Amino acid sequence: MHIDILTLFPEMFDSPFGASIFQRAIDRKLVSVSLHNIRDYTHDKHRTVDDYAYGGGPGMILKPEPIFEAVESVKSEQEAADQESSRLPVILLTPQGRRFSQEIACELSKYSRLILICGRYEGVDERVREHLVTDEISIGDYVLGGGELAAMVVVDAVVRLLPGVLGSEASAADDSYVTGLLEYPQYTRPEVYREWSVPQVLLSGNHAQIAKWRREQAIRRTSERRPELLDKANLSLEEWRLADNLKNTSLWRSFT
Ligand code: 6GU
Repeated sequence: MHIDILTLFPEMFDSPFGASIFQRAIDRKLVSVSLHNIRDYTHDKHRTVDDYAYGGGPGMILKPEPIFEAVESVKSEQEAADQESSRLPVILLTPQGRRFSQEIACELSKYSRLILICGRYEGVDERVREHLVTDEISIGDYVLGGGELAAMVVVDAVVRLLPGVLGSEASAADDSYVTGLLEYPQYTRPEVYREWSVPQVLLSGNHAQIAKWRREQAIRRTSERRPELLDKANLSLEEWRLADNLKNTSLWRSFT
């Protein structure tokens, strides 16, 4: 997968993309990222990227021309290699976008190329939305100063889904939000730490028992912390009874 990121602050991406699994994915040529400074696509002496809002109001608005030109330039770079450049996702990171989720990460991981545009919170000229971008994504209901951190979140979530990026393919399929449940508790050595022991079942070597315990713990944890996720999880009838019991118990607890 190739990812082009258009931003006013390309240097913000240096350290996160230089770290950990991300660097490994780049080294193994599973993903490549190009950063493009929107300011490089201005033509005036002051390299102006924003301007006052028509109609008045606070905050500066990102001008359309440099953004259009940056996207067009990035598209034409690879047009010969990419027959599908018209269907290529051009995603604006903005608090007004659809809310990012594991499902959207999975959807984006299917493309061979993505173009991400980092907005500024004050705003982007509406014509960019109307005539340039194909999608708008927000990472949650809070306001960031710009789309850069959101772009990093999206890239991280997408890249780890690419085949070969994670150590074992199994680990992504087991994720919370893929099974629909939060993850079960995990332990590693030592077996006893400050008198706190690892649950006995995990030391038993009985794989069926361990799987049963983990599934139960995942349901318990989800029921306690994110009960709304249970509706989308594929629970068996028996598991629903367990979840229901837990729900009733915690409800009962909150009344006493
Ligand atoms: Cl994508 N951008 C900004 N500025 N704020 C956000 C966001 C994006 N997602 C959540 N908050």
